[in-house]
Amino acid sequence: MLPIDPIAELAPSPRLLLGPGPSSVHPRVLRAMSTPLLGYLDPEFLRLLDETQELLRYTFQTTNALTLPVSGTGMAGMEALLVNLLAPSERLLVCAAGFFGNRLEEVAHRHGIEVTRIDKPWGEVYAPEEVDTALRAHPAKVVALVHAETSTGALQPLEGLGEIAHRHGALLLVDAVTSLGGLPLRLDAWDIDAAYAGTQKCLGCPPGLAPVSVSPRAREAIGARTQPPSAWYFDLELLARYWGPDRAYHHTVSATLVYALREGLRLVAEEGLEALWARHAANAEYFCAGLAELDLVPFVAPAHRLPTLITVRVPHGVDEAQVRTRLRTEYGIEIGAGLGPLKGQVWRVGLMGHSSRRENVTLLLGALKEILVRRD
Ligand SMILES: Cc1ncc(COP(=O)(O)O)c(C=O)c1O
Repeated sequence: MLPIDPIAELAPSPRLLLGPGPSSVHPRVLRAMSTPLLGYLDPEFLRLLDETQELLRYTFQTTNALTLPVSGTGMAGMEALLVNLLAPSERLLVCAAGFFGNRLEEVAHRHGIEVTRIDKPWGEVYAPEEVDTALRAHPAKVVALVHAETSTGALQPLEGLGEIAHRHGALLLVDAVTSLGGLPLRLDAWDIDAAYAGTQKCLGCPPGLAPVSVSPRAREAIGARTQPPSAWYFDLELLARYWGPDRAYHHTVSATLVYALREGLRLVAEEGLEALWARHAANAEYFCAGLAELDLVPFVAPAHRLPTLITVRVPHGVDEAQVRTRLRTEYGIEIGAGLGPLKGQVWRVGLMGHSSRRENVTLLLGALKEILVRRD
């Protein structure tokens, strides 16, 4: 045996997570995670699964029976829905305007799905007529959009898109990773056929589960497939046999992550969705007002600016990486860098879930002022 030096006990530095995710985990969620494991078929655990699904339906604003958290992060949700809704050689239309729109194409392509991607400049969003025109020009089984594009800070309006998709015989797939729990999202009222999210953004949980929800119409399309989905682990009908009355073993779901999600969702229900959305909106507004006082400018116009993720233009002559480093080392605050074409151009500030609190905004604005204005 090779000798190994003793490795220190875990002691992560305290961090205020105000980047694009993960956001700070609520203390109640952390406490729930430190409770003892139950077996995946323990009747007590099965009750927790049911409760988690019920809370998820509330949070997604849906009655969809097929609503469950897939094991894995937001990307697992994306991949799961793509491979269930689309068989190889079926067509997906992606209306992209940022990094995660591009991801949809990349993942679908790996599974042999035929993809048409249309693009807009990063930071812009699609009008309903543009989605209509795109579907007329590029008929597809599924049209996908990112509700909250974390790479740009833009909020894609979704109302009316479900009806447009259905008129063209398509299903509407939505990436809700940075929106679920942080801003209005109403799957049923907006005729959204399938949506996926993550737990580490607005739900106050660690990463590790990807809530998904599938409408009866989309489930019918899944049922009409002649071949099973190309990823066994993400076969939603197999997963539904565990999450539903059959309780058939599929894989060993992480009890710890289910405890976390259930507690995060209990917090959502306690606060109430409307109040939760209002809190996110108010803190974003407060942050943007404070930015103006520092002569800092958000990247996205107010009409399409996300409350959960605000991109801030890096002023000319400022070393953006150094500002982030100073925020982390001197103030214990994490914010994010720009991605792709916005690398070096913007900072990404997440005000999500338990991180979306007025005192956090005050702290970040104060720290930015010290770093940018005083520069001592
Ligand atoms: C909009 C969007 N979609 C998908 C993902 C992928 O989620 P994850 O990193 O949890 O796999 C992210 C992650 O930041 C995201 O912001």
